[in-house]
Amino acid sequence: MAKIIVSGRQTLIGSVNISGSKNAALPILAACLLIPGENVISNLPKLLDIKTMLEVLKCLGAGIKAENGRAWIDASGISHYDAPYKLVRQMRASVLVMGPLLARFGKAIVPLPGGCAIGLRPIDIHLKALELLGAKIIMHDGCVEATASRLKGQRIYFDFPSVGATENIMMAACLAEGQTIIHDAALEPEIVDLANFLNKAGASISGAGTSKIEINGVERLNPVEYNVIPDRIEAGTYMVAAAITKGNVLIKGCIPSHLDAVITKLREAEVTITEEPDGVRVEMSKELASLSIKTMPYPGFPTDMQAQFMALMATTPGISIIVESVFENRFMHVSELCRMGADIKVDGHTALIRGVPSLSGAPVVATDLRASVALILAGLIAGGKTKVTEIHYLDRGYEYIEDKLSSLGAIIKRVE
Ligand code: UD1
Repeated sequence: MAKIIVSGRQTLIGSVNISGSKNAALPILAACLLIPGENVISNLPKLLDIKTMLEVLKCLGAGIKAENGRAWIDASGISHYDAPYKLVRQMRASVLVMGPLLARFGKAIVPLPGGCAIGLRPIDIHLKALELLGAKIIMHDGCVEATASRLKGQRIYFDFPSVGATENIMMAACLAEGQTIIHDAALEPEIVDLANFLNKAGASISGAGTSKIEINGVERLNPVEYNVIPDRIEAGTYMVAAAITKGNVLIKGCIPSHLDAVITKLREAEVTITEEPDGVRVEMSKELASLSIKTMPYPGFPTDMQAQFMALMATTPGISIIVESVFENRFMHVSELCRMGADIKVDGHTALIRGVPSLSGAPVVATDLRASVALILAGLIAGGKTKVTEIHYLDRGYEYIEDKLSSLGAIIKRVE
């Protein structure tokens, strides 16, 4: 079984290039299903989730070629409308093919993604909105089957600004008849990137990045070349890596405005952050200050940075508090951090972190994508060796992480 071994207590110094955004790339790849002809998508990170989405598209009949961070996707000859269960169960974002398939072909069958480690994660908001657009939804054999002759534009009010539902409905509405307005839409930069891609292909979307998105349906979209935005969560993770090791790292190629909440919290913790022409410099030489954080939909503090900040707070003097308000069960890294000597108590959605003077390396198990990187961050400051297993989670979201951390001075290796 592959594992990552980190020998702690090295100070990270240097610069690191940020990869393309996984969470922006996934819906854009799914959106290629709306377009007859070959799209070229660049700045794709080399990650398991990207491979899985390309595999899903291939199973549906799309022509796929991928190399060096670029993929050529031709959805002219789609022959299937059902996403295979073996792929959907590996990655919840596979449900993003539902909106495009339904809008262009009038039919989509997608297995329910099922319970996932970090919470229940239903898709009721997606389905309710598709029904409003005129889809008939039935459940059978653990699958959602959606059919429609042509979707019709509607006013939609989300109960919660779900990222995936906003993306799915925005894609579906592109080819619907008339105007769709999504109220209480998610505001994430990945939504804006998807809208930019779709508009480049001929869609008519305005308001992406605000809570009200208007989509005027068009008859057809045309193939385009598109470059996905940098990964704000990867950038935030390297910012924490610099801070936790009391290092000095230039995070190159990120978009600082996408990281406002993360940068604000790091500054509150006394970390020095400076914008430079080609990136953001993160420097830390003194004692960190304790924090109080609540995860929120964008532009609030991202749930995808919660585990990394918990690792940071584990050795910060004083008491820090983290409230997880987006997912029900996203504290699974707590017990592993405690095995390394952290003092963390969880009560429902709240974690209370009492900073300890130091952590010690231990064998630990990754339980989800961001939990896996939090354990590596903890390993960077722990005494001795930290061995992280179940690193397939890590490979879903962090491109070349051992190489990137090694180039900054970390002692980290993958053992197969
Ligand atoms: C996306 C991101 C994920 C991030 C999350 C929140 C991708 C591929 N993944 O996930 O990294 O952690 O946003 O920022 O972009 N919910 C419902 N019903 C629904 C849909 C969602 O109850 O129909 C709930 C979920 O269970 C969860 C919350 O809403 O508690 C947020 O989910 P959502 O915003 O949809 O996240 P994802 O799109 O799955």
